[in-house]
Amino acid sequence: MSIIAESLGRIKPSPTIAVTTKAAELRAAGRDVIGLGAGEPDFDTPDNIKAAAKTAIDEGKTKYTAVDGIPELKKAICAKFKRENGLDYEPSQVTVSGGGKQIIYNAMVATLNPGDEVLIPTPYWVSYPDMVLLGGGEPVFVPTTGENSFKMQPADLEAAITPKTKWIIFNSPSNPSGAGYNREELKALTEVLLRHPHVWILTDDMYEHLVYDDFEFVTPAQVEPKLYDRTLTMNGVSKAYAMTGWRIGYAAGPQVLIKAMAKVQSQSTSNPCSISQYASVEALNGPQDFLATRGKAFEERRDLVLNMLNEAEGISCPKPEGAFYVYPSIAGCIGKKAPSGKVIENDLDFVSELLEAEGVAVVHGEAFGLSPYFRASYATSEEALTEACNRIQKFCASLS
Ligand SMILES: Cc1ncc(COP(=O)(O)O)c(C=O)c1O
Repeated sequence: MSIIAESLGRIKPSPTIAVTTKAAELRAAGRDVIGLGAGEPDFDTPDNIKAAAKTAIDEGKTKYTAVDGIPELKKAICAKFKRENGLDYEPSQVTVSGGGKQIIYNAMVATLNPGDEVLIPTPYWVSYPDMVLLGGGEPVFVPTTGENSFKMQPADLEAAITPKTKWIIFNSPSNPSGAGYNREELKALTEVLLRHPHVWILTDDMYEHLVYDDFEFVTPAQVEPKLYDRTLTMNGVSKAYAMTGWRIGYAAGPQVLIKAMAKVQSQSTSNPCSISQYASVEALNGPQDFLATRGKAFEERRDLVLNMLNEAEGISCPKPEGAFYVYPSIAGCIGKKAPSGKVIENDLDFVSELLEAEGVAVVHGEAFGLSPYFRASYATSEEALTEACNRIQKFCASLS
């Protein structure tokens, strides 16, 4: 009898590990490797947020808190939803976890029964399918195409819904494609969902504040208030406030769901870090002007990467509305021979050969459920991005 649970056999090890391990090996061997794999802002947490954490420590706010969040933070979250999204939530409809990731995990474990289906548009954030599997459900993928800028089409959503569909996980702007749905595009999807009242919506709004070119961020319950009673609106401080290490995510939705999620958390991690919760109160209630400044910096980096990648032979890259990733197609490189003599048959071959030949680490599209693409993060300096894109251009030119 194996010590390892059968349920763990259903999930796969992180598909990004192969590339990350290879990059680390090359670095250890003295190679100059530029990593474009990071899923976090390179900026520091703002000083006012750090100061709030220090005050919390000095004031002894270092004990257990209520399982799913201190009242001050729940209040700040309600104010944020009202101010930024026009959504009315009571503190009793809010839950706080150790990162956005735990919110999604709690929601899946609290709601899924064997055989329940969860719709996940591709390309997707790598953790969604595995969290569904760990919760005992079945991920069902809804394909998108580069031609449609990786946006799910209403007819494809309609076709994927079955009587067993319990949730759709919606993510805009998206990790990995950066695709953001405008009001009209989202409205067309919510109209489909209105016709299927048994389907719940988990909207992952983590990249809300990372949008460019005057793109207006919208979220499902805001665009279609009739979905309010079956929507879990999830967000967090990790990306917007450069607080990935502090581990605070939150969500609001119907009380019955919020209570069930708190029950899962009460028997796993209990409250998220007390100090991080006080820091998050400051993040949400404090000055917000730095968001625009940082957004501008990300927008400039996006344009730099987009222009340089689109100049590379065999690569084409749609313009993302948000997040800090681009998701270029390498269709024009398939079948060509790399300097090592290896023929590039898929996106894993492409990223492995690129790393070997030019020392640039990106993640292959297969990891996110849509090939042949790769994901590059531009959450790094302009200098590093310019050098990385020069090397990608050189690599593409070297293919024969
Ligand atoms: C789309 C998306 N959702 C959720 C998360 C998780 O965020 P957190 O670090 O707060 O757990 C990430 C992090 O990479 C993400 O990209």
